[in-house]
Amino acid sequence: MENKTARLGAVYTAETAEDVARVYDAWAENYDSDMSLAGYRHPAISLAILARYVPKGAAPLLDAGAGTGLIGEWLAITGYDQIEGLDISEGMLKVAERKGVYKALHQAALGITLPFSDNHFAAIISAGVFTSGHVGIEGLDDLIRICKPGGVIVLTIKDVLWQASFGQRIAEFEQQGICTKIDDTGPYVSMPGEAGTTPSRCIALKVT
Ligand SMILES: C[S@@+](CC[C@H](N)C(=O)[O-])C[C@H]1O[C@@H](n2cnc3c(N)ncnc32)[C@H](O)[C@@H]1O
Repeated sequence: MENKTARLGAVYTAETAEDVARVYDAWAENYDSDMSLAGYRHPAISLAILARYVPKGAAPLLDAGAGTGLIGEWLAITGYDQIEGLDISEGMLKVAERKGVYKALHQAALGITLPFSDNHFAAIISAGVFTSGHVGIEGLDDLIRICKPGGVIVLTIKDVLWQASFGQRIAEFEQQGICTKIDDTGPYVSMPGEAGTTPSRCIALKVT
């Protein structure tokens, strides 16, 4: 599998987390250049949303599904330099480590209990992860657990997931007083250079 369209097809239709990790392990060295050619917008948009609510220097921050560390680099440049990253793919984390911007990197899977204590992070950012074949709403509960009360979680979500159940679940969380949705870009295309990319949105949640 040599081109990004084939790799994207393989991750969107992956059936297990191990399959996803395998595809990303093999993609890691070409991921940044492929995504640059695709005009990948999630890191810039999610960073802009985070900067609306999270003061410069807030710490610690978690990049959940950090991949090769595109967001970590930009967070560090803009003054958020206490960042940890987690990802399921060892290959992606190796590339992220070379960027030298994360205080710690963790190989772990969203969707099960994460290796962090309750109320630990001041903010969490996750781009390109809550999408087809990757992580669904089940990955959110533990991000809420590890975020401090008053902390902010910024997520991109594939709009088909949002329409299917994600939006409804967030509304239920709000009714239960677990978090408040404080921002929502509405649908946009994350990779305008990749034909057939379906819309996503970026939301921010304030944890209660
Ligand atoms: C499209 S990439 C996005 C990476 C990075 N956030 C970015 O914007 O460039 C999706 C990432 O999610 C990771 N991933 C997929 N499923 C995961 C899971 N269950 N737990 C943790 N990471 C996961 C993949 O390994 C991959 O690095």
